[in-house]
Amino acid sequence: MKLCVIGTDYVGLVAGAGFADMGNDVVCCDVDREKIARLGRGELPIFEPGLEALVWDNVKVGRLVFSVDVAGSVAGAAAVFIAVGTPPKPSGEADLSSVYAAGATIAPALRDFTVIAIKSTVPVGTADELRRVVLRGARAPFAIVSNPEFLKEGDAVNDFMKPDRVIVGTDDERAREVLRRLYAPFLRTGDRLLYMDNRSAELTKYAANALLATRISFMNEMAGLCDRLGADVDLVRRGVGADPRIGSKFLFPGPGFGGSCFPKDLRALWATAEATGATLEVVPAVLRVNERQKSRIVEKLLHYFGSEIHGRRIAVWGLAFKPGTDDVRESPALAAIDGLLRAGATVAVHDPVALDAARAIYGDRLEYFASNYDAVAGAEALVLMTEWREFRDPDFDRVRRAMKTPVLFDARNVWDPETVRTIGFTYHGMGRRTVVPESAAERESIPNLQWRRSANGRSRRHSARTA
Ligand SMILES: NC(=O)c1ccc[n+]([C@@H]2O[C@H](COP(=O)([O-])OP(=O)(O)OC[C@H]3O[C@@H](n4cnc5c(N)ncnc54)[C@H](O)[C@@H]3O)[C@@H](O)[C@H]2O)c1
Repeated sequence: MKLCVIGTDYVGLVAGAGFADMGNDVVCCDVDREKIARLGRGELPIFEPGLEALVWDNVKVGRLVFSVDVAGSVAGAAAVFIAVGTPPKPSGEADLSSVYAAGATIAPALRDFTVIAIKSTVPVGTADELRRVVLRGARAPFAIVSNPEFLKEGDAVNDFMKPDRVIVGTDDERAREVLRRLYAPFLRTGDRLLYMDNRSAELTKYAANALLATRISFMNEMAGLCDRLGADVDLVRRGVGADPRIGSKFLFPGPGFGGSCFPKDLRALWATAEATGATLEVVPAVLRVNERQKSRIVEKLLHYFGSEIHGRRIAVWGLAFKPGTDDVRESPALAAIDGLLRAGATVAVHDPVALDAARAIYGDRLEYFASNYDAVAGAEALVLMTEWREFRDPDFDRVRRAMKTPVLFDARNVWDPETVRTIGFTYHGMGRRTVVPESAAERESIPNLQWRRSANGRSRRHSARTA
């Protein structure tokens, strides 16, 4: 099939390359000339595992091309996918101006019956409005399909090529058939193509993200409670997740959710509800808990160092909002860095791929290191913000020797507290007991600590006075 994808970022680029890989002829277009020029030079605008090969293999055989000529790319396509941004307005509502601008460009370029599929995440009612926009200038019949995208950054290629489900929201039979044929190679096992009306499809995407975010905020709330009660959230998580009605996924506490989707989509869902006069209770609470959670790790550092954090050197591992991406949009790491800078700390950062993205925001206010070991040199604490695989089992002896004081703040609960304690670290997690080293000299160097004797008489654990 001849296809056009409008918007060439995470969703558009992955979808365009994925469709091309299944034998379709795809033009990916964008109004951002610099982005298209970079693609023309063989540079991807984003880091995404597996995407390089998928894109360049299809470019080489001529099935995938890039263009700034949106109208020219639409002409003759059987289906046009809109994958432009829908960023939040200050009110929280989704800004749909790019979606409608794309619609206005598409309309006069239509030559024959064309499916116009909305891949961007858009509020309920957008397909109806887009239909009106396109009708104003259309020269040929068309159908608007709501086809929300569920890929995850960091695993986007895999998600797109092997989707859990494909939602096709339209009542138009011809459009259903076009998308059935297009997605059939991606859905060879099982019945994962779900047809529905436009409005249900639009809401499905928001409901899915809101439910996932709810699990995270709920577990973050439980982690805060564990901090106060002396329970271990990691054990609670395992116990809860063992129930098949609940399942073990998306139950990991951390520094709060970020990225370009969850925060904006929850705000947009809330705004949509308010516009209809409905009151949502859960969604605003999930956002509130998340905002609070984003400051927790810095609160823990401030509690540990007291007012003495000014001028101290703090290392941060991980800047991206999650592993596998260089995307730092609404990353909790940025909230932590902002808090540390406000408190007067010197912040040394490392991320395997997101250093440039952070440099574009902070300039010379941070110290940037290409090596995680260099970043900890002389640091008085190491904060783990993104659970990149290479951070899971680093050479802790080397880290300890490089640091000025061996103190870990693990915002992702990836390190085993007992293991790092035996290497000589003081360990702070989220909803886990703080663990301190064996030696009295090291213990005494720790400010703000109260002691509790364990059953065997060895004092090793922080009391319930953790932050
Ligand atoms: N990033 C994700 O993981 C993800 C996952 C699922 C859904 N989504 C949704 O998909 C949409 C796109 O997100 P993204 O992260 O891929 O993109 P983005 O918002 O980062 O970028 C969108 C691209 O569209 C281009 N664009 C804007 N207006 C245009 C126009 N009129 N014509 C041509 N190009 C135009 C921009 O220049 C930009 O390159 C959003 O609605 C997002 O919520 C994103």
